[in-house]
Amino acid sequence: EQINKGKYEHYMQKEIHEQPESLTTTMRGRLIRGGSCKSKSVLLGGLKDHLKIIRRSRRIVFIGCGTSYNAALAARPILEELSGIPVAMEIASDLLDRQGPIYREDTTVFVSQSGETADTLRALEYALENGALCVGITNTVGSAIARNTHCGVHINAGCEIGVASTKAYTSQIVVMAMLALAIGDDTISSQARREAIIDGLFDLPRYNYATALEGALKVKEVALMHSEGILAGEMKHGPLALVDENLPIVVVATRDACFSKQQSVIQQLHARKGRLIVMCTKGDAASVCVSGSCRIIEVPQVEDCLQPLLAYHLTVLRGHNVDQPRNLAKSVTTQ
Ligand code: G6P
Repeated sequence: EQINKGKYEHYMQKEIHEQPESLTTTMRGRLIRGGSCKSKSVLLGGLKDHLKIIRRSRRIVFIGCGTSYNAALAARPILEELSGIPVAMEIASDLLDRQGPIYREDTTVFVSQSGETADTLRALEYALENGALCVGITNTVGSAIARNTHCGVHINAGCEIGVASTKAYTSQIVVMAMLALAIGDDTISSQARREAIIDGLFDLPRYNYATALEGALKVKEVALMHSEGILAGEMKHGPLALVDENLPIVVVATRDACFSKQQSVIQQLHARKGRLIVMCTKGDAASVCVSGSCRIIEVPQVEDCLQPLLAYHLTVLRGHNVDQPRNLAKSVTTQ
């Protein structure tokens, strides 16, 4: 019944709208409330025997391709904060091309919706050869990555048919946030912070760069338009030269620690006559766009689930195939 499009025109549209349910399924049975000394915690059954080793590792290295890589990037800040362990990020093919160093003391985490992506799988073999602990985060029970890692977590997002990943992306981020909570679980000083995150798990505020990267990837994948995700602080180091009245720019300026930086970038982009579409937190329209010349998309504080919609609508307007973009495969099983 999951394979049916139901009332939706496209699988991608359906999968975007399924996110409230898929996220609930991802978290089901894993967030624990209650108990007197420990009021809230996370239980990831597939990891419980390995958490001690993970906590002792010298680095945590996330490895993936495409959207799965972007999901890891989105979760990195919370992982660094709660684990206190250095977190490295690797695009699977790049790690292999460089034969980058992987050590016995590393925990490597393989993120893959399908669990079958050839580059990610080869990187897993490489990490196994180098003696690292290998953790899988996949959506596919019995997949090659699920079978060949030492331990792992299934994201339980349900079957995803659209080639461009949507609900799996948000569930991956939530699983990695839960992973961060589980690793940090023995640190008393961050107990209050962890409880606050559990309470508002999906209000993790620092997703915006990954959101921009992932939004740009989606626009490329399905709307077949070139686009880039750029950090606000990097605009002045090159990309600003591209801005004129012909360039549409989507600025993610929701309330977080970088909000004032985003405000000043908006002013710079405005001064160069860029065509601005600003995503901001509800009620913030006047503070993000003083000139009144931007298009505004107000989003609730928890905005993550909405970001693939831009690519979806652009694609439909341009008449392209949303679920099966040309030249792409859902699961790339060749290197
Ligand atoms: C392909 C798909 C992408 C996906 C990537 C990684 O390139 O077209 O949408 O993000 O593979 O897939 P995985 O199954 O490993 O998450």
